[in-house]
Amino acid sequence: MNAPVIDQTKLEAFVTRAVDDLSAAYGGVMVSLGSKLGLYKAMAGAGPLGAAELATRTGCAERYVREWLNAQAAGGYVGYHAVSDTYELSPEQALVLADEDSPLFIPHAWQVPASMWFDEARTLEAFRTGQGVAWGEHDGRLQCGVAALYRNGYRASLVPEWLPALEGVVDKLEAGIEVADVGCGHGHSTVLMAKAFPRSRFHGLDGHAASIDEARCNADAAGVSERVSFELARATDYPDRQYGLICFFDCLHDMGDPVAAARYAARVLAPGGTVMLVEPFAQDRVEHNLSPIARMYYAASTTICCAHAISEGGTLVLGAQAGEERLAEVFRQAGFSHFRRVAETPFNLILEARLVG
Ligand SMILES: C[S@@+](CC[C@H](N)C(=O)[O-])C[C@H]1O[C@@H](n2cnc3c(N)ncnc32)[C@H](O)[C@@H]1O
Repeated sequence: MNAPVIDQTKLEAFVTRAVDDLSAAYGGVMVSLGSKLGLYKAMAGAGPLGAAELATRTGCAERYVREWLNAQAAGGYVGYHAVSDTYELSPEQALVLADEDSPLFIPHAWQVPASMWFDEARTLEAFRTGQGVAWGEHDGRLQCGVAALYRNGYRASLVPEWLPALEGVVDKLEAGIEVADVGCGHGHSTVLMAKAFPRSRFHGLDGHAASIDEARCNADAAGVSERVSFELARATDYPDRQYGLICFFDCLHDMGDPVAAARYAARVLAPGGTVMLVEPFAQDRVEHNLSPIARMYYAASTTICCAHAISEGGTLVLGAQAGEERLAEVFRQAGFSHFRRVAETPFNLILEARLVG
């Protein structure tokens, strides 16, 4: 066989790309360290700081801090002033790296690939055997990282934007209805809604016991435990309370039988009730999903979402890039005649389903 002809320009461009990715992966470890050690927080709003000063302010060893700072400067995560040998976090960098309440705060997101690396042996085994890996079998950084990452997005959008985009739902929430948050994880979405709508009752449901425990703690801390319950339940067996609203936040595609989950929702929905579906943003076709965000979702989907759905029997393994058309088909099969997109962000599709239009 003839050796393939190598185009040097294409080769160099691709190697550069691959090295950039490798550099970013090393940088992710630095982001996690900087966040956990309070280095970014200490730099936020502090102006130019030398390594020794930052080390003193954070109680860290100066030599480590200096090397970390140089890694940050090389990656464009802090500015470096060569004349004064100081480092500075800009207000924009602080929003992404230091402000835990900012919807743009990124450090928690690095816990997810950390868990993916930690669980590599399980994933290798899953590829070879075709068996599933359940959500709860993964390293704990997965559940904590996802919950903390999504919490800030929900804080920014769920009550002010997504719920009002659903037809007539805010009026009902204000009047008082039963609400199910299926696959609620650590319950941040449940708690946010409960805080905003004191006349309604909220029920977080999840098949992962440790997440339910965490969700109960979060509701206690937020002072809404009286109006919020969290129950260990699957998407096809939670109590029928004739819900006015049933939410699926970033979980329908994880389920082994999403049609059964939607069918069950149809059974326990009050007349005129609404299903709110929040899913990862995706187009309907692979060739339209070739973006950096889709790359993250496809990767997480490979090791986490598909693996969980397969662990539940894998009747229909949607993956995290299902797209609106495939999601609509799930709800059509479950008997819903109304399905529409009500909002979107670069990361999410927000969809509404009802039994009658
Ligand atoms: C990606 S997490 C999302 C958690 C939460 N909704 C959020 O947005 O942060 C998916 C959640 O769905 C739950 N889950 C997956 N399959 C489920 C099922 N069949 N029934 C109930 N919960 C399920 C998992 O345990 C996990 O907590």
